[in-house]
Amino acid sequence: MHGGGRRRELLILPGASRSRQYHRGIDTKAPSTSPQDTARRARVLTGYRPTGPLHIGHWFGNILNMRKLQDEHDAFFFIADWHMLTTDYDRTELLPERIRGLVLDWLAAGIDPAKATVYRQSDVPEVAELALLLGMITPLGWLERVPTYKERLRDLAERDIANYGLLGYPLLQTTDITIVKGELVPVGEDQVSHLEISREIVRRFNRLYGPVLVEPQPLLSESPLIPGSDGRKMSKSLDNFIGVSDEPDEITAKVRTFITDPKKIRLGDPGRPEICPIFTLQRLFSPPDHVAWIDANCRSGALGCVEDKLDLAGRIVEYYRPFRERRAELERTPEIVDEVLAEGAAKVRPVVEETMKAVRRAMNLA
Ligand code: TRP
Repeated sequence: MHGGGRRRELLILPGASRSRQYHRGIDTKAPSTSPQDTARRARVLTGYRPTGPLHIGHWFGNILNMRKLQDEHDAFFFIADWHMLTTDYDRTELLPERIRGLVLDWLAAGIDPAKATVYRQSDVPEVAELALLLGMITPLGWLERVPTYKERLRDLAERDIANYGLLGYPLLQTTDITIVKGELVPVGEDQVSHLEISREIVRRFNRLYGPVLVEPQPLLSESPLIPGSDGRKMSKSLDNFIGVSDEPDEITAKVRTFITDPKKIRLGDPGRPEICPIFTLQRLFSPPDHVAWIDANCRSGALGCVEDKLDLAGRIVEYYRPFRERRAELERTPEIVDEVLAEGAAKVRPVVEETMKAVRRAMNLA
């Protein structure tokens, strides 16, 4: 799945030099790339709902990809706090801490505000204005057809979320993308239909009012499926995850709860790595020769699950050590979160103003 060279690159976490570079970015507001350079790069946008702690699934599914995107593209990364309200409108007391935690997680993970534009959706009130305008031209049927809408309603049946806001989720997402002229949007499979709606809304807008909005393209990113402790996809709602900020003891305790091959009951029984979540994780956290060794010794029965788990836990603990240390360091300067968000808001504002001027003009609202 990953070549040796690629894997090594992924294992490198930002060190002290990156952190100095980052602070320089904040102090001087100096762009890390020249304007000509930026002009050639496609603008890529991704948002993150502040729904809780980052876990290993996010890390390998998004965070590593975002680190690459910020080097290769004109990257916009934003916190979709309004989107969180589509399901958690009755839990807004959680917002400040979750947003703070997410910014700290991003910074500690190597998301670099000197390279990417990092901002919060609700700091851009024009998003609400454009969402209202796009709502005027978005047929209800398009929104009702989105599979994730029906799934959410079903999964959260006890939570009373059959509100206008949830139905409008893909519309708000379209607004996020088009308001900054996002060209590329990294998508997982469950987001493909959202992006298709976005493209249809943009086409409809441009047909009605002239070619103002940019039609976004999906950026299909390779993201391995990360299993959680029960073998299903790692996710917060299933409570089967290992947090990237978890303390070493917690990591070890959680790894111990993972299921393995149910037919491998005791040491000596042959195992099937291909169906074992622990093995899937070993492939992410261990060098290839060790993975091959585990494969052989699990199959022969010589390697027991407990030993395999303890080995994996140790590797996860080590892998995230620099992350934990850097996050702890960032916690000592809590004002950094507000600084990052203020800088991001300032960077995104002129982009948004330009779009909104063109939109208002095209619709005869200005
Ligand atoms: N839907 C994304 C999520 O599940 C968040 C999001 C909101 C987003 N707006 C976006 C992603 C625009 C990409 C582009 O967390």
